[in-house]
Formats: sequence, structure tokens, C-alpha cells
Amino acid sequence: MARPLMTRGPAGVAALLLLAGCVNIQSPLAPTGDQANALHRLLVLMTIVCGAVYAVVLGGLVWSLCRARQRLKRDRDDRLLDRGLWTAAAVIVVGLTVLIVGSFVAERALVATRDDPVLHVRVTGHQWWWRIQYRDPASGGWVETANELHLPVGRTTRVSLGSADVIHSFWVPNVAGKIDMIPGRRNQIDLTPRRAGWFRGQCAEFCGTQHAHMALDVKVDAPADFDRWLIAQARPAGTGAPATFVRSCAACHTVRGTSAVGRAGPDLTHVAARRSIAAGTLPMTRGALQGWIQQPQALKPGTSMPAVPMSAADGLAVADYVAGLR
Ligand code: CUA
Repeated sequence: MARPLMTRGPAGVAALLLLAGCVNIQSPLAPTGDQANALHRLLVLMTIVCGAVYAVVLGGLVWSLCRARQRLKRDRDDRLLDRGLWTAAAVIVVGLTVLIVGSFVAERALVATRDDPVLHVRVTGHQWWWRIQYRDPASGGWVETANELHLPVGRTTRVSLGSADVIHSFWVPNVAGKIDMIPGRRNQIDLTPRRAGWFRGQCAEFCGTQHAHMALDVKVDAPADFDRWLIAQARPAGTGAPATFVRSCAACHTVRGTSAVGRAGPDLTHVAARRSIAAGTLPMTRGALQGWIQQPQALKPGTSMPAVPMSAADGLAVADYVAGLR
């Protein structure tokens, strides 16, 4: 078996760092959306202003230490101290003014699109997954999916956020800033992505043992591709559910167009079209599906998904069915 990169000494660690630098699918330093851009500009401004103040303060400290060794006349020292204090006050006033103006401009940029959202999406946090509902422009109803957020490039999506249990936090750093998901309250965030591709979101508020396994795959598509995707998501599943699935899974999961209408867990109508299982925990393969169905507590300890007792043959049948839900 190949050894992981980390165990191969300094060269392996260096390779890992280089690879990490190339990925950039979950980084506020690689903004690809209007809101993330506004925050990135503010971050750069704050780093420059605070860095300059830090350098001036350290410079002053070094200078005064050097001066202390020289014996100077007291009145000349007093004049220098006076001048230094006035300069420090001026630097503080100018620095704070620049930061206030910068944060005001960033704030304006975040709400600039607020009167013209194109698409409405509701995202609800659960321990430990994301319920996602799209307002269907065709029917006016809601189309439900989970754990994978699709966005049209160049359009503004208004996401309304809530929680079903504890406080979570919605964060797709390449596209926008983070915002808490609070039980009993709906927060809003606008997302205007400017580059197509896959990105990664992550719950950013500790919400229990599997907080780290509460990831969100984000796919930014060309508008026409997005429209096609939404139409496909709105359709019911193509085939009826086998009896084993209905017996073991239907109490918690919905597969639209079948008798499975449970609401406790993610909607599975087109689950096999998603990129991962269990909120980014495993890649979407038939083998991973079977493992997840038969041993969820081994793969994600503490998850609300129970290990439903079933034979290996039944597990295989359920995995085969779920793997066909595209
Ligand atoms: Cu949800 Cu951390």
C-alpha cells in the first residue's frame, strides 16, 4: 500500500503544502464571487494598515532602546518624545479612518445586490448535514435536495439560512463571507459567484462531534446548465422503491414519486447525482453507499443515521437502488 505523503519526511510535507496551495477550493484568499472579493479587498487593506502600524511601533521601540544607551540632554529628549507622541496620534487617526472607510465600502458592496436577487434558496442546518430547497421559477414550489449547493455563475442567489437543532454557520469562503444559522431565526446572505467550478463550503461553528464532517459541495454552473440541473432535480425518481428500501429507509428519507416520504434525513430523490455522501464524508460510489447504509456509526460516529439491521444481500439491494437515483 502506498504510504501517505505526510509520512515521507520533509519532502512529503513540502509536497503536501504545495498541493494544498494549488487546490484553493475552500479559501477566502482565492475569491471568485462579488461578496468574497469585497471581503478580500478589506482583508488586504487591514493587513497593510495594521502591518504598517506594527512596523512603526516596533521601529520606535528599537530606536528608543538604542537611544537609551546614549546620554542626551534632558530637554532635547523631551522635545523628541513630544514629537513622537504627536506622530503616533496622527498615525492612529489616519489608520483608523482608512479602516472605517474601508469597512463601510465593503459593507456597501455586500448589500449592493440586495434589491435584485434572481434565485431564492433556503438552507437549513442539521446535525450534521444541509437541507437545501430551491424556489422553482416554473412551479413556484420548493425543490428539495441536500449537501450539494448549485449556483448559476454571474447571477445573484439569495440564501435564507436557518437551523433545525443547534447553531451552525454557513461558509463558502471562495464565494462569500460566513453567517450563522440560528434556530428560530432566518439569516440571509447573497451569493454572486463569478467563476464556474467546484468549491467547498464548511460549517464554521462547532455544532457537535461531527462538526468537521459537515461539509458542503458547491457547484457553480453556467446559467443554462444550472437551469437544466434544476429542472432535472424537480423531477420525481424514475423507478419505484424496492420493499427493502421502503422497510428500512422510508421512515426518514424521501424519494419523490415513491412511498418514501420521511423528513428526518436528506432527500434522496437524486442522491446518486451528488458528488459525496453524508455531507462530504465519503465520495459517491456504490461501495461507499453500501458501507454507509450498513455501518453509518463506524464511518461518522454520532450521526443520526442508525444502523438498520439488514442482511448483506438486503444492504446490497438498497445500495444498488440508491446508486441508481440519479
Ligand atoms: Cu454544523 Cu458545525
